[in-house]
Amino acid sequence: MLRSKIGGIGYYVPEKVVTNHDLTKVMDTSDEWIQERTGILERRYGKKHEETTTSMAARASTVAIERAGIQKEEVDFIIFATLSPDYYFPGCGVLLQRELGITNTAAGALDIRNQCSGFLYGLTVGDQFIRTGMYKNVLVVGAEMHSMGLDFTTRGRNVTVIFGDGAGAVVLQPTEEENKGILSTCLHSDGTYAEKLAFINPGAHGGYHAKYLEEPADYGYSDAEYGEMFITQRMIDEGMLFPYMDGPFVFKMAVQKFPEVIIEALDKAGLQKEDLDMVIPHQANLRISQFVQKRLGLRDSQIWNNIQKFGNTTAASVPIALCEAYEAGAVKPGDLVCLAAFGSGFTWGAAVLRW
Ligand code: UT7
Repeated sequence: MLRSKIGGIGYYVPEKVVTNHDLTKVMDTSDEWIQERTGILERRYGKKHEETTTSMAARASTVAIERAGIQKEEVDFIIFATLSPDYYFPGCGVLLQRELGITNTAAGALDIRNQCSGFLYGLTVGDQFIRTGMYKNVLVVGAEMHSMGLDFTTRGRNVTVIFGDGAGAVVLQPTEEENKGILSTCLHSDGTYAEKLAFINPGAHGGYHAKYLEEPADYGYSDAEYGEMFITQRMIDEGMLFPYMDGPFVFKMAVQKFPEVIIEALDKAGLQKEDLDMVIPHQANLRISQFVQKRLGLRDSQIWNNIQKFGNTTAASVPIALCEAYEAGAVKPGDLVCLAAFGSGFTWGAAVLRW
């Protein structure tokens, strides 16, 4: 039976370390508050004008491709998950192809816009391409340059203190080895709460979704018959160009969905939580991961947390954490690993794999 395995993995985080104390210089927050509520001590920010989501993805991908033992030209398909793309369009998939110097136009490139669960969605799509025999080397990437689009005033503090920049990548390859590779994947979505964690402006919505909002906003649209909808002066003047999150609501959903989807993915693979060697959760908030750990009865050594030093890197967080765990020898051949994520959309998912 043809399955996909992670043939190579890499990650990259920018050099610049931004501590909680650094953030107290630009907004009303404290190291104490951030540590207590999120577990975060510091995060990394990319270098302005020199680093982007694509450039960081290229660094991570180069390592993954090398470890997969292939040449970059052998990449058949690129799947790129991000919520902080370099351009509104085209997507980062083709920008990464160019950055890596892949001139093989037979390679396709697909962008995924699923935020925190983007890597899990990408992994699942790539897994299906491998299982059907369509492709042999699928590069799945999650990368984010959050620092370019956060609100660095006190108004944005509940969101801004959480996020960090970075990239992670894997190369999926076919395997016929018994009991190896990706054993199961599960994906879910519920659009009911789309605006509970969202970055809606600039956008082409024109106020259409106001019927779903508790408090419809006035975006300052003009009376012009054409255009002038995507971005308005009011959006700029009133700080509507930043992500919004109803933190406590998202938190409550996350602690419910993480354990649920992990158990579901294990079930699908005919396994139980006692079989797990390692859980790599999306690094949303250390308190969420601790809740998941407790709920599943995992020892400290069975769950990987690195949000303390990298913050929440959204689509990049699962591959960064998996790569770090692999490099530390905490994920070894034969280990049963579960990857899981929950976030904006809401969308969530999990994958169970034998390393
Ligand atoms: O990765 C995608 C999915 N995202 C998540 O899973 C995140 C889920 N949510 C969370 O992690 C938490 O809700 C947060 C860490 C975002 C916020 O923590 P919280 O304990 O839920 O805080 P809150 O939003 O309920 O705010 C409590 C208080 C408020 O003050 P008042 O109104 O009680 O006076 C906030 O204004 O804390 C205040 N606050 C802050 N104070 C200092 C919010 N952010 C900050 C801050 N520093 N950075």
